[in-house]
Amino acid sequence: MTAKIIDGKVIADEMKAEIAEGVKKLAAGGIKPGLATVLVGENPASHTYVGMKRKMCAELGIESFGHELPATASQQEVEGLVKTLNADPKVHGILVQLPLPSGLDEEAVLRAISIEKDVDGFHPINIGRLAQKGREPMFVPCTPAGCIILLKKAGAKLSGANAVVVGRSNIVGMPAALLLVKEDATVTICHSRTKDLAGVVRQADIVIAAIGKAEMIRGDWIKPGAYVIDVGTNRKEDPTKKSGYRLVGDVAYDEAVEVAGAITPVPGGVGPMTIMGLMQNTLRGAQMTAK
Ligand code: GUN
Repeated sequence: MTAKIIDGKVIADEMKAEIAEGVKKLAAGGIKPGLATVLVGENPASHTYVGMKRKMCAELGIESFGHELPATASQQEVEGLVKTLNADPKVHGILVQLPLPSGLDEEAVLRAISIEKDVDGFHPINIGRLAQKGREPMFVPCTPAGCIILLKKAGAKLSGANAVVVGRSNIVGMPAALLLVKEDATVTICHSRTKDLAGVVRQADIVIAAIGKAEMIRGDWIKPGAYVIDVGTNRKEDPTKKSGYRLVGDVAYDEAVEVAGAITPVPGGVGPMTIMGLMQNTLRGAQMTAK
């Protein structure tokens, strides 16, 4: 059996059209959604990601306000900038790109963001609400939300499913697991100390791979017919490419595609959904101020 390919680009493009419609409606009422990005330090990957987010804002008619601080910025400077953005009525969403340079207190910076503008969903109150029954966060982290959308669009039944999340990061693994619990899945979170990882993954109807290790999850770990969401984006040496490398996921795609029921490719799976989630959250932030 060959898996159905879950095309994140197509699904993200559908979302993009809906977001563009929402932006247009707000414009009729004189409101332009605004996203402030905060980049601290010189991490090249972070610069690339923020650049992609701002480019998508421009395509959708969302205003973006780029703020850059040096790696030497103090805790007070970073939090001061966040507080200024909290008070700015043109800003409906604030994104502090992570990781922050060492020495800065990440949680304190995230806590300084007004929860109404926390479009990344990383404020401790938003994450706390995500973890609690009967509570709803104002915003849900973009990459995990994208994983759930992809699963639903592919036709996965989440309620009662055995879901295995490989990786427990604050940005992806843990919030993805919390979202799956909200969807009534039975969730196992695996990490570097998990015993018999292959055996645990073999029980999964749904696998979310977010460990950051190239092709670690092999095809024979996948239960036949399972839904596989690969969040990994890793460089693998490839002399046939001009750059000398190609991007691969955390799942050995060529093997898993023969066993899974549905699988996301890398690139073109989860990646496009992350940015669109941020755009959708920013639009919602602006819509909330219009009410
Ligand atoms: N670093 C890696 N992914 C993300 C993300 O989704 N949001 C932020 N703020 N930083 C990140």
